Amino acid sequence: MCGIVGFVGREEAAPILLEGLSRLEYRGYDSAGLAIWGAQDGLQVVKAKGRLQVLSDLTQGGATLHGSIGLGHTRWATHGEPSDVNSHPQVSERGRFAVVHNGIVENYMEIREFLQNQGITFVSQTDTEVVAQLLDYLYEGDLLDAVAKMLHRIRGAYAFGIICADCPDKLVAVRKDSPLILGHGEGFQMLASDVTAVIKYTREVTYLDNDELAVVTPDGVQVYDAYLQPVEKEQHHVDWEISAAEKGGYEHFMAKEIMEQPEAFRKTVFPRIRDGQVALDDLHFEKDYLEQLDKIYIIACGSSYHVGMVAKYNFEKLLRKPVEVALASEFRYSEPIVTGHTLALVISQSGETIDTLTAMREAKRLGARALAIVNVVGSTIAREADDVLYTWAGPEIAVATTKAYSTQMAVTYLIALYFAQMMGTISPEEYAAIVSELLLIPTKLETILAQSQDIQYYASLYFNHPSIFFIGRNIDYAVGMEGSLKLKEISYIHSEAYAAGELKHGTISLIEPGTLVVALASCRAVFEKEMSNVVEVKSRGADVIALTTEDLAGETAKTVDHTIAIPTTHPMLLPSLDVVPLQLFAYYVALQRGCDIDKPRNLAKSVTVE
Ligand code: M6R
Repeated sequence: MCGIVGFVGREEAAPILLEGLSRLEYRGYDSAGLAIWGAQDGLQVVKAKGRLQVLSDLTQGGATLHGSIGLGHTRWATHGEPSDVNSHPQVSERGRFAVVHNGIVENYMEIREFLQNQGITFVSQTDTEVVAQLLDYLYEGDLLDAVAKMLHRIRGAYAFGIICADCPDKLVAVRKDSPLILGHGEGFQMLASDVTAVIKYTREVTYLDNDELAVVTPDGVQVYDAYLQPVEKEQHHVDWEISAAEKGGYEHFMAKEIMEQPEAFRKTVFPRIRDGQVALDDLHFEKDYLEQLDKIYIIACGSSYHVGMVAKYNFEKLLRKPVEVALASEFRYSEPIVTGHTLALVISQSGETIDTLTAMREAKRLGARALAIVNVVGSTIAREADDVLYTWAGPEIAVATTKAYSTQMAVTYLIALYFAQMMGTISPEEYAAIVSELLLIPTKLETILAQSQDIQYYASLYFNHPSIFFIGRNIDYAVGMEGSLKLKEISYIHSEAYAAGELKHGTISLIEPGTLVVALASCRAVFEKEMSNVVEVKSRGADVIALTTEDLAGETAKTVDHTIAIPTTHPMLLPSLDVVPLQLFAYYVALQRGCDIDKPRNLAKSVTVE
C-alpha cells in the first residue's frame, strides 16, 4: 500500500524523505515522488514510475532539491495506471497545494466534475489530484479552514500529507481509516505511514486517530478533532531497535523472518506462562461471560485467516463452543449473526487491514466484544478492539508473513488454554501437557530450521512445476492453505490447498503424471485416511512430498517420493511446526525462480483499501 513520509525541520528534507521512503518500500508500490518547499525554489516536485532508486537517481539522492519541509510518497496504484503523472505528490493547477495520499476518495468523480465545471483542468487520473485541486478551490487564505472544508466534502478512507506554498512553515496531516503517525525530534517533526520510516531519526511518536488533523511545524505539532478543537495526545516511545527492520546479513527479509521464528515464539509465549499457568494479564474475561458465549467469530484476511482456520479446530475441541471463521472482506456483507454473547476474535499483523478493521467495527456495532491479536503496537485495530493481545514478533518487513503467522498461532493457543481453564472444559492433566509442550516449540523450530537444506533440495527439484497441490485433513488442511498461499504469493506458481477427502469430488481430475502434491500428514487421528488420499494421487502419477512427524515418517516413506519429518508435539500445536517447512519450500522455490521475494508483484504488506 502507499507509503507517506513528511519532514519539517531545519535540515534539507529530501535525503531524509528518501531514507524514510526506503523503509516503507516493503509495503508495496509502483511509483514514488517528492515535494519540497524551499525559500529559493518554491515548491519543487519530482516523481517517477518504478522503484525508489529511479527517484533517487533523478534527484541525486535528494541533493538537487533544496528546502527543509517536504513530503514523500510511494504509490500503489488504485485510480489510474502506475505512471509519472499519476504518482504522488499531486499538485493543484495553481501550484499552491501538494498532496500525498494513502486510501481511496470514493466520491472523487463527482468532485472532479464539479471542479472541471469551474474551469479547473486535471492532468492525472487519480482521486488524489481531486483533493489537491479542491483544497486550492476552497482556500481563502486560511489553510486549516480549507482542509476542514475539503474533509467535509470527501468520502472514503485516507491519510493525507498536505503542503501549501502559502504556508511553507508547516505540514498538515489528516487520517481516516488509513494509518498515519507523527514522529517528534529536537527541532524537527515527521509524519509517516508507520514507525519504520521515522525510527532512524526519532523513537518518540504519536498515533493519530480517525478524523484527527495535525498541524506540524519544526517545533511541535498541534492535533485537532474534526471540529478543529485541539486534542491532547499521548506520546509513545518505540523500544525496538532499527536493526530489527534491517536484513542483518540475510539475502531477504523473508529468510531472516523465517529464522527469527523460534525467538519470536519465545517472546510471545514465555512471559505469558508463569508457574505452568497461562497468564494473560491484559485480558479481563469472566467465567460467566465465557460460558454464555453463543459463538466465537474469528475475523481476518489472508494468512491471519489461516491462523483462524487452525484456531477453529483447537477452540472447538477445547472450549466446546461454536466457532465461525470469516474472511473479513465477506463478513460485513453477509448479514452476520452476531449478538451480545458473541466474541469477535480479530487477527491482524498490521492492525490496519481495512477489511478486518471495518469488519471488527461492524461486529462491535452488532454487539460483539472484540478481542484482537495484533503485531503492530498502537495500530488502529489494537486501539479500537475491546481487548488486545500483542504478538511480539517485532517488525515484519517481507510481504509474505512468516513470524507474524507463527506468533498469531501461538497467541491462539494461549487464548484457548486460558479460556478452557476458566470454563473448566480442560482437565488439569491435558492443560499441563499442552503448556509443557508449548515451551518446547522454539527448540523444535530450531531443529526444523537447521535442516533447511533438505527443503532447498526439494525446491530445486520442483521449482519449475506449473501447479502444486497441498492436501491435508483437519488442522493439516488449514496449514496446507497457508503453505499454498505462501508458495503462490512469492513464486507465482499456481497452487491449491485441498481438504484431502474432498479431492475425489472433482479436483483429482487435475492430477496427472508428474503433478506435485504436498501431503500434510501430521495429524495422527486422521493419518490413515490422509494416506488413503495420498495413495489415490500416487496411483494417478503424482509426485508426493509428505510432511509428517518423526514417528510417522517410516509409514509415509513407504508410499511417497520424499518425506519431510518434523519433531512430534501435542496435536494441537502441530501447525507451529508444520508451517515452517512450507515457508522454506516457498522461499527456496521463489529463490530458484529469481522472484522478487520480499516485494512480490501486485502485493502490498498492509492492505488499507477494500
Ligand atoms: O496485516 P494483516 O494480518 O491483517 O494482513 C492480512 C493479509 O493481508 C496477510 O496475511 C497476507 O495474506 C500476507 N501477505 C500473506 O503472506
